[in-house]
Amino acid sequence: MYDWLNALPKAELHLHLEGSLEPELLFALAERNKIKLPWHDVEALRGAYAFNNLQEFLDLYYQGADVLRTEQDFYDLTWAYLQKCQAQNVVHTEPFFDPQTHTDRGIPFEVVLRGIKQALVDGEKQLGISHGLILSFLRHLSEEQAFDTLEQAMPFRDAFVAVGLDSSELGHPPSKFQRVFAKARSEGLLTVAHAGEEGPPEYIWQALDLLKVQRIDHGVRASEDERLMQRLIDEQIPLTVCPLSNIKLRVFDDMRRHNILAMLERGVKVTVNSDDPAYFGGYVNENFAALHEALGMSEAQARRLAQNSLEARLV
Ligand code: ADE
Ligand code: ZN
Repeated sequence: MYDWLNALPKAELHLHLEGSLEPELLFALAERNKIKLPWHDVEALRGAYAFNNLQEFLDLYYQGADVLRTEQDFYDLTWAYLQKCQAQNVVHTEPFFDPQTHTDRGIPFEVVLRGIKQALVDGEKQLGISHGLILSFLRHLSEEQAFDTLEQAMPFRDAFVAVGLDSSELGHPPSKFQRVFAKARSEGLLTVAHAGEEGPPEYIWQALDLLKVQRIDHGVRASEDERLMQRLIDEQIPLTVCPLSNIKLRVFDDMRRHNILAMLERGVKVTVNSDDPAYFGGYVNENFAALHEALGMSEAQARRLAQNSLEARLV
């Protein structure tokens, strides 16, 4: 598929490791950990991947993550993703992981981190893929719980480059996490946040002004606010856009109405990413291909998008 797209060196800057858990691996881990699943087989699980909004997806995503129990499970999950990166010429990745999804189930923080980090280190050595890991807080939980998570992470401070903010956006504005992000910055961590996926442009302003983020994850609703658009352009603030995700979660009702190329042409530093590829129908290259098919993305535009991803790296 599209050799010219595959050949472009790319960075992936918006990828939830838990969202790269393919149904086949999910079933294999369930068997290894002797967990009974509510789906009869892989096809039945795939059949459940039909969502009307972010929350419907998140409910299934957290349920799926329950099969991840041991350090080896987190290693295998991360390694499978890195092999996709290699196949698609993703030369650098800055993945998220959601520690609270696991610690709240009684899995120790260090079990999660060790498995993920060992795979990332092996990926650098064996596959030549560099990385910067991002610890993401679940925004439907309290700021106090985020503080607890940051405290658990601090003995492993050097394993991360940034903190992020994900999960249910509506009703959980960035302002809720202002203090814990300030604490993370005081520890030398960089910051990013999901904003303007389902939430209003105001959440993007807050992410910039209150959380002092280096990048906005998603950010597609910025196009509703002209003053914000101008700021993104003037300051060249990267947006990590996830086209297939946006269609699957009905942020846009059709790929032909997606605004990523219009933003690119206006000078916004947009990038292409897969978000939760196991759930949304593809990795980075499938996202690029969808833009080519639905929006007529040219090779020159693809090159600029790929170049943006390399320039928008945190590390
Ligand atoms: N967690 C995993 N994927 C997400 C998304 N697209 N938005 C918010 N939280 C997420
Ligand atoms: Zn995301």
